[in-house]
Amino acid sequence: MKLDLSTTIAGIKFKNPVLTASGTFGYGDEITDLADVSKLGGIITKTITLKPKEGNPPPRLCEVAGGMLNSIGLQNIGVERFVKEKACVLSKLKTSVIVSIAGKTADEYSKVIGLLKDEKWIKAIELNLSCPNLDKGIVCKDRELVKEIMLRAKETSVFPLIAKLSPDVEDIAELSTFLESLGADAISLINTFPGMAIDIKTLKPKLANITGGFSGPAIKPLALRCVYFAAKTVNIPIIGCGGISFAEDAIEFFLAGASAVSIGTASFIEPKATIDIVKGIENYIKKNKLNSLDEIIGKLKV
Ligand SMILES: Cc1cc2nc3c(=O)[nH]c(=O)nc-3n(C[C@H](O)[C@H](O)[C@H](O)COP(=O)(O)O)c2cc1C
Repeated sequence: MKLDLSTTIAGIKFKNPVLTASGTFGYGDEITDLADVSKLGGIITKTITLKPKEGNPPPRLCEVAGGMLNSIGLQNIGVERFVKEKACVLSKLKTSVIVSIAGKTADEYSKVIGLLKDEKWIKAIELNLSCPNLDKGIVCKDRELVKEIMLRAKETSVFPLIAKLSPDVEDIAELSTFLESLGADAISLINTFPGMAIDIKTLKPKLANITGGFSGPAIKPLALRCVYFAAKTVNIPIIGCGGISFAEDAIEFFLAGASAVSIGTASFIEPKATIDIVKGIENYIKKNKLNSLDEIIGKLKV
């Protein structure tokens, strides 16, 4: 019997629960020769903004114990070029495509959504609420701004909306509930943790931006805790993300309550990591004589 690895998020049925995390798989078109995207549940594209952004000055990536730091600064080609140059490839991929977007203001988020509205190949929009908003800090720390972004996005969007949150908040479960109350169709947890690294020879920070986002295996227990607490309080699906490198890691996220996972840093180490994770999940389900993924989601015994 064929195993059912499918999962439903924000009303969309994904053939399996493994997605690429935003910003770690390009726009989804560059990596297609490294990993067969048709084997993935879906891809979440690099975050795009209304106008193109150059991002932060280099160096903006550095390896640290247990993961890496990045301060890309949302470098992207902007929504108009994205539609012109990427839609033709993305619309033909044999996988579901979620487009990640960000902005400085609620108006910018809603304008980006408006410019994407005719792109029928887009399955959902991920609102990156975890990016720094110039001098105002991380977007999702500002309740008023989050509320305005969500309400405007709901008005404009023909797509389901997934809110991606930063772990750098006081209470991730409470924030997730807030997003649910504003109409988010799903929650993505989590973006990177704030971090930094110093070169003790030059006495300089390793990133030109001084600080950056910490991702990779070391953040897995922290991310898992966020998913566990949020899953206990919200009724909308959660996409778990943070430090997932192997199928076993993904299974932990499902048990904690995630309905899908997205994989970031692991793909930098092994470009086929996502495909291996799909196979590993399938093997786990077979080995445990289960029929579907649904039988493990939220089944943590406490
Ligand atoms: C180089 C790099 C670029 C990223 N760019 C984005 C981005 O554009 N938008 C976003 O929402 N998250 C971005 N992220 C965060 C990832 O999507 C993910 O949330 C985070 O890395 C944790 O997952 P991981 O430990 O599997 O990498 C980026 C992460 C990395 C490492």
